Amino acid sequence: MKIISSIEELRDHLSGQLRTAFVPTMGNLHEGHLSLMRLARKHGDPVVASIFVNRLQFGPNEDFEKYPRTFQSDVEKLEKEGVYILFAPTEKDLYPEPQEFRVRPPDDLGNTLEGEFRPGFFSGVTTVVLKLFSCVRPRVAVFGKKDYQQLMIIRNMSRQFALPTEIIAAETWRADDGLALSSRNMYLSESERQEAPALFKALNAVAAEMRNGHLDIFQLEHQAMDSLAKRGWNPDYISVRRQSDLQVPSAGDLAQGAPLVVLAAAKLGTTRLIDNLEI
Ligand code: PAJ
Repeated sequence: MKIISSIEELRDHLSGQLRTAFVPTMGNLHEGHLSLMRLARKHGDPVVASIFVNRLQFGPNEDFEKYPRTFQSDVEKLEKEGVYILFAPTEKDLYPEPQEFRVRPPDDLGNTLEGEFRPGFFSGVTTVVLKLFSCVRPRVAVFGKKDYQQLMIIRNMSRQFALPTEIIAAETWRADDGLALSSRNMYLSESERQEAPALFKALNAVAAEMRNGHLDIFQLEHQAMDSLAKRGWNPDYISVRRQSDLQVPSAGDLAQGAPLVVLAAAKLGTTRLIDNLEI
């Protein structure tokens, strides 16, 4: 595997490649990330991964400084997956001058759910992803459903800007007890780690009620948030949305069985976890 930090050198190595499959990450790689590498390999060649902790997508009080950086072990994992190039730019490489041009996602998609609790987050994500796409020029790029709203926003960005990159969705990789793998799980204490699967259980409870014909989604959302709060969580939201555009379903959507997804974000101690489940 070649490890490249400069945009120029990356372009030299990839010039003439028309089938590149790309997986952007922020490192601290776990099985979820590695499953994306495997899916990428099915959809293109060569596979290019990136590791870049993107300052633009962190709020002033978020964990940019303490975000886990585990470069050496990440490199070993990517090598085992047969990744051809790891693009690992420094901040100077990727942002040699202040990144003043930004992508701005539409308000209805960018300012709801995660966007409501993390102002500017999706603008930071889409700006870096567009820039990474422009460096790598991939034919396909793989994103995890774990970050459901991010996936949808990037898909819509790619379509609206007519980018030549097809966005591929990977299923969420979970621990045996149901907890979605995340780099932030390592902030959890031992007892918090035991409690953490309750988030996915709460999503499953909402989905089960809905499958049984209980369609008062506001009541279901409140019940789920209350039950987490009683267990010591601090929920930001649990929300049933349409899969198609992440907006609140109408009575008609519910009656017609439109594809839905229930999304959640909640703090356990100081760690903020997100998860979702398609219904
Ligand atoms: P990061 O959190 O490192 O995630 C990189 C990719 O891995 C994302 O597409 C994410 O959805 C996926 N992923 C994370 N955990 C997963 C799991 N348990 N199962 C399946 N996929 C999982 O998301 C980002 O980085 C950044 O916002 C980025 C897109 C790289 C832009 O900076």
